[in-house]
Amino acid sequence: MGAEPLEIHLDDRDLSRSLRRDVRIGLTAAAKWLPPKWFYDARGSELFDEITRLPEYYPTRAERAVLAERAVEIAELTGAKTLIELGSGSSEKTRLLLDAFTRRGGLGTFVPLDVSVSALAGSTAALAADYPGLRVRGIVGDFTRHLDRLPTGGRRLVIFLGGTIGNLLPVERAEFVAAMRAALEAGDWLLVGTDLVKDPAVIVPAYDDAAGVTAEFNRNVLRVLNRELDADFDPAGFAHVALWNPEQEWIEMRLRARRSMRVTVLDLDVDFAAGEDLRTEVSAKFRPEGISGELAAAGLRTERFWTDPDGLFGVTLARAV
Ligand SMILES: C[S@@+](CC[C@H](N)C(=O)[O-])C[C@H]1O[C@@H](n2cnc3c(N)ncnc32)[C@H](O)[C@@H]1O
Repeated sequence: MGAEPLEIHLDDRDLSRSLRRDVRIGLTAAAKWLPPKWFYDARGSELFDEITRLPEYYPTRAERAVLAERAVEIAELTGAKTLIELGSGSSEKTRLLLDAFTRRGGLGTFVPLDVSVSALAGSTAALAADYPGLRVRGIVGDFTRHLDRLPTGGRRLVIFLGGTIGNLLPVERAEFVAAMRAALEAGDWLLVGTDLVKDPAVIVPAYDDAAGVTAEFNRNVLRVLNRELDADFDPAGFAHVALWNPEQEWIEMRLRARRSMRVTVLDLDVDFAAGEDLRTEVSAKFRPEGISGELAAAGLRTERFWTDPDGLFGVTLARAV
């Protein structure tokens, strides 16, 4: 059947407009910040894949362990005809589900959605080659804006893996879950992967690895701004910082100015004092009752909750009611 041409809901003009807006808001704020979606150009997507293979980065291994154990059960319980993946990246772990669905029969279409064209182009070509009976329909889109564009009809399972839901701020997360429920029909399914609250001594190294791959990933956002907006950040002038915030129960990735700097971006002169931080990502960690409560508030009933054997990472299977 093969991969269909990518369906584009974010073209270069939309991306550029939304990047400009985010930069204007984030870099003029009292505490400077940027949304994490701008890490993921082709290089950023490659670096993220490298991160998932690092010894310190337990979330991918732990989530894969749950999927390996539960894929058949997920295929049986949901009986989905269409599998939709948000923030799909390489869709590597998703193959465990696709294998189970293929053995069971009945899954017709796989729809990965990501902001990264390069990640989607690679994953859709590889998946179409490896699953010849499957229709693979990649969507270039933003999961905070384009859930109303998801394909309808037939029983659907939407998956959101990798703990990416934790990259949304709490208000954004509530909006996302509500929009997700609105995009589903009663009876459709949602599978969400969430990293769990645990000893920060385990969490922090996952965001500050010895080889410095996460540091490169973090600085990549500055390279994106330099290239796309003709900004003049000196990426080497910023140190990578990963901090555990115990009140919010999230990791913050930041870029800390090593010296005072003035950066020109758009029509802005942005001053960084020595030691000043730019927050580039939060990664919230969850408690089981918190996840099921947030889903329930939007009309998504938790049917199953699994963790890996070490209890590091949670996977929730919920149903729209
Ligand atoms: C943390 S990675 C997870 C990738 C993969 N799902 C996994 O589990 O390994 C986040 C992925 O979401 C994508 N992404 C980030 N923000 C997005 C947004 N607002 N809309 C769509 N995709 C987004 C990134 O390009 C990246 O592929």
